[in-house]
Amino acid sequence: MRKPISRLGFGGWQLGNHQEWGQMDEEQGIKLVQTAFENGITFFDTAPNYAAGRSEIYLGMATKLFRDKIYLNSKYGHDPDGNIGFSVAGIEPSIRGSLKRLQTTYLDSLLLHNPPMEILNGATSHFQELERLKQVGLIRAYGVSIDTAEEVEAVLKQPNVTIIELLYNIFFQSCRKLLSDIHKRGILLIIKVPLDSGWLTGKYTAKAAFEGIRHRWSQEDIQRRADLVNQLSNITKDTSLTKYAMGFLFSYPEITTIIPGIKTIEQLHDHLNHQKYVLPHDIKQQFENLYDQSIAKNPLPW
Ligand SMILES: NC(=O)c1ccc[n+]([C@@H]2O[C@H](COP(=O)([O-])OP(=O)(O)OC[C@H]3O[C@@H](n4cnc5c(N)ncnc54)[C@H](OP(=O)(O)O)[C@@H]3O)[C@@H](O)[C@H]2O)c1
Repeated sequence: MRKPISRLGFGGWQLGNHQEWGQMDEEQGIKLVQTAFENGITFFDTAPNYAAGRSEIYLGMATKLFRDKIYLNSKYGHDPDGNIGFSVAGIEPSIRGSLKRLQTTYLDSLLLHNPPMEILNGATSHFQELERLKQVGLIRAYGVSIDTAEEVEAVLKQPNVTIIELLYNIFFQSCRKLLSDIHKRGILLIIKVPLDSGWLTGKYTAKAAFEGIRHRWSQEDIQRRADLVNQLSNITKDTSLTKYAMGFLFSYPEITTIIPGIKTIEQLHDHLNHQKYVLPHDIKQQFENLYDQSIAKNPLPW
């Protein structure tokens, strides 16, 4: 039987001291995870490469006393040293590495971490190997972390996949029409990057400068996002947008859990305070229209 999964989940990429997202020491990371659990969050997302393994290590230290009450989701394909590889033979050793760092004997789920299309199409033996690892008890479920409608369509043809982690938010709605197909299959749907890496909080402007993983955006990308954020503020009549961005996602019954990347106790409490907010239907409609009219034909780069 599946463990209860909180609709507000925890994105674990930011856990750990690292170049992508900045500083977070062990004590801060453990406190963040334990406070999340104490406040009802039961779903935690991580991956071997997050902070070169430290995300899993912090999660393991923080959760060992209540392991049986939470859902730990990790991934395969990006290793702690920064290498990317999807060999079938590498899956089991990677899972064993995750289990050691997480101080546990099983993963609630294992996702292939943005694998190539041939794997999603079922042209390889990855899903058979994952089925074997499920049978021996190292993982309880398996699936994929993906970004595009083409990828979702391919995965929906794989009968044993029971979990998808998907890029979806106000700025990325290309999979909107596929949400009901995912739901009909009974697939557990995790939403990653719910805040467009922070933009959908409303806290950045065209003058923002980014380091680490967010250094990827050109000045043009930043200007376009800042203009879109202004349009959202015109719709909500509010400059603080987090509750609307999260409320937008909570409004889809097809979504099982939403995993914002949380860096501080203040950000965690902000999400906890807003988790019951119900987005008015007309605002949701306007967010969907904004995407259809201003983004769909010219998608933003992640
Ligand atoms: N390929 C994959 O499988 C994949 C890819 C991406 C993400 N993920 C998963 O999805 C999770 C979420 O994605 P993400 O972290 O990339 O993007 P995100 O959740 O859209 O944005 C995270 C950023 O938003 C800001 N933030 C979050 N909550 C806030 C609050 N309440 N108030 C103000 N600012 C807030 C923080 O920005 P500041 O840093 O500026 O404070 C944080 O670093 C990750 O942690 C990871 O677990 C998976």
